[in-house]
Amino acid sequence: MTAMNTAEFETDLSLFKYDHLEQLPPEYRGLTEDARTNRIEAALRTLGDDVVILGHNYQRREIVEHADFVGDSYQLSKEAAAADAEYVVFGGVTFMAESADVITDPDQTVLLPSMEASCPMAGMAEALQVDAAWEELTAETDADVIPVTYMNSYADLKAFCAEQGGLVCTSSNAHEAFEYALDRGDKVLFLPDKHLGENTAHRLGLEEEIARWDPWAAESADASSVVENDVILWDGYCQVHERFRESHVESVREEHDDVDVVVHPECRREVVEAADVVGSTATIRETVANADAGDTWAIGTEIHLANHLGRWHPEVNVVPLCGDACMDCNAMRQIDPNYLAWILEELAAGREHNVIEVAPEEKELARVALDRMLEI
Ligand code: 13P
Ligand code: SF4
Repeated sequence: MTAMNTAEFETDLSLFKYDHLEQLPPEYRGLTEDARTNRIEAALRTLGDDVVILGHNYQRREIVEHADFVGDSYQLSKEAAAADAEYVVFGGVTFMAESADVITDPDQTVLLPSMEASCPMAGMAEALQVDAAWEELTAETDADVIPVTYMNSYADLKAFCAEQGGLVCTSSNAHEAFEYALDRGDKVLFLPDKHLGENTAHRLGLEEEIARWDPWAAESADASSVVENDVILWDGYCQVHERFRESHVESVREEHDDVDVVVHPECRREVVEAADVVGSTATIRETVANADAGDTWAIGTEIHLANHLGRWHPEVNVVPLCGDACMDCNAMRQIDPNYLAWILEELAAGREHNVIEVAPEEKELARVALDRMLEI
């Protein structure tokens, strides 16, 4: 067995998934919020039922205010599958828009207002890299390994998972995807988020079965010992969620009487263990929506969602889990409302920009992986 050296592979870990980055025309750069809102609303009136806007919970206020549906990754993929508009404008990041393109009908077009909205975690598991790791790991075992990829990955990796009998999951159904994989095989390779993988393994009582695979390590772990375990976790992570520490949970409990803590499962294991509730961005929303007036909830996720919750539920005392240190997601932030105005006005004038189109050879298989998720 040769030790894996990722430098040998031609991986393209560039920040941007798509290279046709278009600059925002200068006339859109200095719009006031009122002017922009009027122009967006006028374009939407012209487009009517031809367009639907989907917005992730982490989008800025000025985007979610114009969205027809705002939700977590799972809900947005269901909305995309159900949409019958000719154009789906996605307020989110490239992997989400790719999934929408895979799931929508061929005569529907998915547009992402800014091509710079690329999730760094999705870039941490390039299909080429995964292919190489797969060969190394599966060469060391006769057991059936089923790959499961988090939605936060690109279409080529989703296609790879389908080809190997695996599927996609989101933070709301990772445990069901693990069960699907372990019902059909002996081991699961989970990509790219090690924290969601670890939290899911704990939820299923598989904590003794965890091994890690770091594709960037100068000397990779010994594949033969890694495959002795039933849950193999790729070493990816989200920098927004890794920032939260157990000490933040302790501090917020000291600062606020009767505070409850809700966190996203992309947080470190010890943060999840210290919290009261863990779940997807939809679960975080529901938790605050169901709180009683006067309750205090500390929110361990991206800061825009914490801010939305404070606005949407003024009767609840909503505090960010790590105060001013809570981060916004740089990828989500690329969807500037001025880009939304530009994309919509251009569409209303019959011009398409920033179309997300998954290559046909990946699309069919990626759809299999997404359909398996939608069916579990
Ligand atoms: P959700 O599926 O919970 O919305 O999470 C998506 C995401 O990117 C979290 O960082
Ligand atoms: Fe990616 Fe993290 Fe942003 Fe989610 S919050 S889109 S995982 S970088």
